[in-house]
Amino acid sequence: MRLVHNLPGMQLVCLLAAGVEGVEGFPVTVEVHRDSPSFGTGRTSIVGLPDAAVREGMERVLPAVMASGLAHRPTDHVVVNLAPADRRKEGAAFDLAIALGLTATMEENGLPALGDDLGLLAELALDGRLRPVRGVLAMAVALRDAGVQRLAVAPENAAEAAVVAGLDVRAPRDLRALVEGLRGAWTDLPRPPAAAPTTQADEHADLSDVRGQDHAKRALMICAAGGHNLLMIGPPGSGKTMLARRLPGLLPPMTDPESLEVTRIHSVAGLLDHGAGLVRRRPFRAPHHSVSAVGLIGGGPYPRPGEVSLAHHGVLFLDELPEYPRPVLESLRQPLEDGHLTISRSAARLDFPSRCMLVAAMNPCPCGWLGHPTRACTDNQEAVHRYRRRISGPLLDRIDLHLEVPAQKPQALDAPASGPDSATVRERVLAARQRMLERQRRANAALDGRGVRQHCRPDDAGMALLHQAVEELGLSAQAHDRILKVARTIADLDGHEKAGLEQVSEAIGYRLLDRQTW
Ligand SMILES: Nc1ncnc2c1ncn2[C@@H]1O[C@H](COP(=O)(O)OP(=O)(O)OP(=O)(O)O)[C@@H](O)[C@H]1O
Ligand SMILES: [Mg+2]
Ligand SMILES: [Zn+2]
Repeated sequence: MRLVHNLPGMQLVCLLAAGVEGVEGFPVTVEVHRDSPSFGTGRTSIVGLPDAAVREGMERVLPAVMASGLAHRPTDHVVVNLAPADRRKEGAAFDLAIALGLTATMEENGLPALGDDLGLLAELALDGRLRPVRGVLAMAVALRDAGVQRLAVAPENAAEAAVVAGLDVRAPRDLRALVEGLRGAWTDLPRPPAAAPTTQADEHADLSDVRGQDHAKRALMICAAGGHNLLMIGPPGSGKTMLARRLPGLLPPMTDPESLEVTRIHSVAGLLDHGAGLVRRRPFRAPHHSVSAVGLIGGGPYPRPGEVSLAHHGVLFLDELPEYPRPVLESLRQPLEDGHLTISRSAARLDFPSRCMLVAAMNPCPCGWLGHPTRACTDNQEAVHRYRRRISGPLLDRIDLHLEVPAQKPQALDAPASGPDSATVRERVLAARQRMLERQRRANAALDGRGVRQHCRPDDAGMALLHQAVEELGLSAQAHDRILKVARTIADLDGHEKAGLEQVSEAIGYRLLDRQTW
């Protein structure tokens, strides 16, 4: 394909940039057409479904090109076309391709023919400096798949782009430096700096910081091992938030493909730190209960990932669960169930990943102190019932463990650090997870009804206890299966072939809300 045409009186240059739809990038051909002065009308225009930021790009590009000493005839008639024309383009990432295209239309700039092995992704400052944009990883992948081999991005985006294998990424400081690199040697342009290393766990949040609460810590380990969702119930200040924050650090380290997915989602959302490469730490997202359905699930005119997607491969924490509006909670059900969700926007159907663990927390009653050893609850029974009914049944159905997190005595809080640290628990979790993967290729929480019957059957004593509990506590069929899964996870942690009396009994203990007495 010939990309540069020089017809008498007019110049056309085509360069490759990219756009983002959902969490996927797509290549965009930027065609810059300039009329020579004799035909020039001094107007610039941009076509191909640009949004306001793309259109404003023209206002940035002309000063940037002039400030770089590369434009001598700014009043020419310039038309920019972004193809494919039927996909919406947003943001400022096209600036660099437009500016370089304009520069290349002027033969006095002496640029060689630019082929479609070159990709350009950056916003421009008025003085010609390259600025970072969001979604670079997704766009770089799309460009690589379209045959691009050389990619220019802003220095802040370089480590992120360098994650993509098979791309020679360079980070010129400004447009002038890029032009010089293209005239001379590409390899003279700065390479991406080494990304700051990130660790799997949050060193500032170790499980051993939590004093006492051995029961809750054990439940967290079980959740981490089996991938089970968790609801914690306890009075204010009992450490529910503190415990939830420590769950990501108990999970197995993310694999490289998992890290890539997480990085891509966070990059598209504009949440990656500048200079960051792959995200290695599992996400922990804690949206406030004032979050909208769009904020939680994703969407908007240019659909962005919601909290459930930002928590992909990590933990979504809903504190004060009864305060979330019911419709917002119900909208979570399908993404939690399927591990991804689809948002339809005009012609496009966008897929967002949402495979995360749900951890929710609530007080036992509106005032918070019901059941507290020293403080009195001021709520009447009706208020307590209303409060508990606010949590959506269908969402509750997705939660395997209900855990009571009691208030700690003040002495307990002053005791020295106790119990296993996160790294020790993570080792046990990893071993249990390995057993699950070998047996059934998925975590226990992800088993369907058939999988439960096939893999989670306890021994006879365990089964008898479960049947007795179902009858005496009036447990549902749902609860029955959840108990079997959790018992299976406990057996995997303990290295047992089958769950027995002990494991089933412990699993029943995590069904607080199923008991009619609660
Ligand atoms: N077991 C504990 N060990 C150490 N510190 C604790 C413990 N429990 C609570 N704390 C301290 O109390 C503070 C409050 O805990 P946290 O916010 O986790 O409680 P909570 O149960 O989430 O309360 P709320 O219901 O008000 O949200 C923590 O920041 C921590 O400093
Ligand atoms: Mg809290
Ligand atoms: Zn109360």
